[in-house]
Amino acid sequence: MSTLNIGLIGSGSISESHLKAYSANPKVRLAAVCDLNEPRAREKAEKYDIPNVYSHYKELLANSEVDAVSICTWNNSHAEISIAALQAGKHVLCEKPLCKTVEEALQVQEAVRESGKTLQVGYVRRHASSIHVLKKFIDEDELGEIYFAKASLIRRLGNPGGWFADQERSGGGPLIDIGVHCIDLCWYLMGKPKVKSVSGNTYNRLGNRAHIQNLDFYKAADYDAALNNVEDMANALIRFENGASLLVDVSFTLHARDNSAQINIYGDKGGAEIEPKLSIVTERHNTIINVEPQLTHPGFEFQGAFDQEISHFVDSCLGLIQTNSPVEDGVEMIKILNAVYQSAAEGREIHF
Ligand SMILES: NC(=O)c1ccc[n+]([C@@H]2O[C@H](COP(=O)([O-])OP(=O)(O)OC[C@H]3O[C@@H](n4cnc5c(N)ncnc54)[C@H](O)[C@@H]3O)[C@@H](O)[C@H]2O)c1
Repeated sequence: MSTLNIGLIGSGSISESHLKAYSANPKVRLAAVCDLNEPRAREKAEKYDIPNVYSHYKELLANSEVDAVSICTWNNSHAEISIAALQAGKHVLCEKPLCKTVEEALQVQEAVRESGKTLQVGYVRRHASSIHVLKKFIDEDELGEIYFAKASLIRRLGNPGGWFADQERSGGGPLIDIGVHCIDLCWYLMGKPKVKSVSGNTYNRLGNRAHIQNLDFYKAADYDAALNNVEDMANALIRFENGASLLVDVSFTLHARDNSAQINIYGDKGGAEIEPKLSIVTERHNTIINVEPQLTHPGFEFQGAFDQEISHFVDSCLGLIQTNSPVEDGVEMIKILNAVYQSAAEGREIHF
C-alpha cells in the first residue's frame, strides 16, 4: 500500500490542523469526514475536497476504503470510537487525552493488541522540531540522568467553554486538557519512568470568567459559557520509582500577569529549558555554559508540530516506522492524571 486513505472524525477546531497536515502529505488521500454536526463536516469536505461525508462515525468506519482515522471528537468518545475503529481494521490517531478513565484506557489497549493495528496518541509536543533536537542531546547522554522536571502552562484567561468545561464530556479542566501535554512531554524526555506516587490540588475559585471583555482566547467550536463544572487550576507533584520528580501547574484562568509556558528538565550532566524556547545548560572545563541551539522554531510551533505528528503517524501505518506514542503511553498518562484528581478530591498522596 503506497497511499493511505484517511477518515477524519470530529471536524471542529483542531481538525483543521490535522486536515492541513494530511493534505500536505503526498502519501495520503483524504477519503472521508464525519461530524455529529453534518454541515460542519460538509464545510471541511468542500475545503479539502473530501468525497465522503457522514454524521455518524459508524458510517465512516463501514467505508472499506478508509485505512486510518484521526479522532478529533470530545474526550468522552475517544475510547468508544478508537475501539470501534480498531475492530473495523483501521489504524487510529487519537487526539489527547487517550480517554477519560483508566478502565477505558485498558480497554483501548486490549483492542490495539487484538487488532494488531497502530494506535498513536496525539502527543503533538513530542513532534516539535525543538524536541527532535533536544532528544538527540538526551539520547547521547549529554544531560545525564534527568531527575527533576518542572512544567507550567498558565492561561490567565482561557477556558474554551462548551464541552471542555463539561466534566462529563471532557473528564476535567486544564489538567486533562493542557496538563496532559506538558506532563507527557517531561515524562517522555525523562525516559518514561514508572510513576510511584502523585499528590495534587485542584481549584474552582474563579469560574470561567466569561464576563471579561477585550481579551481573545481559544474557544470550542460550540462555545457556550453557561456550563462550567471543571477545575480552573491544578498543581501536582509526581514522584517516580527511579527517584525522579515532576512539578506541574496549569490553569484555564488565574490572576496571573500574563499567559506563560515554562517547561524545564534537569539532569546530572546538564539541563534544558524547553518553553518558551530551547536552551541547553551544561558545563565544560569547570565553566557553566548556556547553549542556544539556532533553530528556525526554537519554541513550540503549532502547525509544524502537527505536520510532523501526522507524517509520523502515516509512516507508522505504512509500516515504515513504529510510532513513538503508542497506546501504553496513553494508559500511563491517564493513570497519572486520574491520580492527581483523586489526590485533590481525597486530600492525600496516591501511591501506585
Ligand atoms: N493536540 C492539541 O494541541 C489539541 C488542541 C485542541 C484540542 N485537542 C483535542 O482535540 C479534540 C477536539 O477538540 P476541539 O478543540 O477540536 O473541539 P471542538 O469542540 O472544536 O470540536 C469537536 C468536534 O467533534 C464533534 N463530535 C463530538 N463528538 C462526536 C462524535 N461522537 N462523532 C462525531 N463528531 C463528534 C463535535 O460536533 C465538534 O464539531 C479534543 O479531544 C481535544 O482535547 C487537541
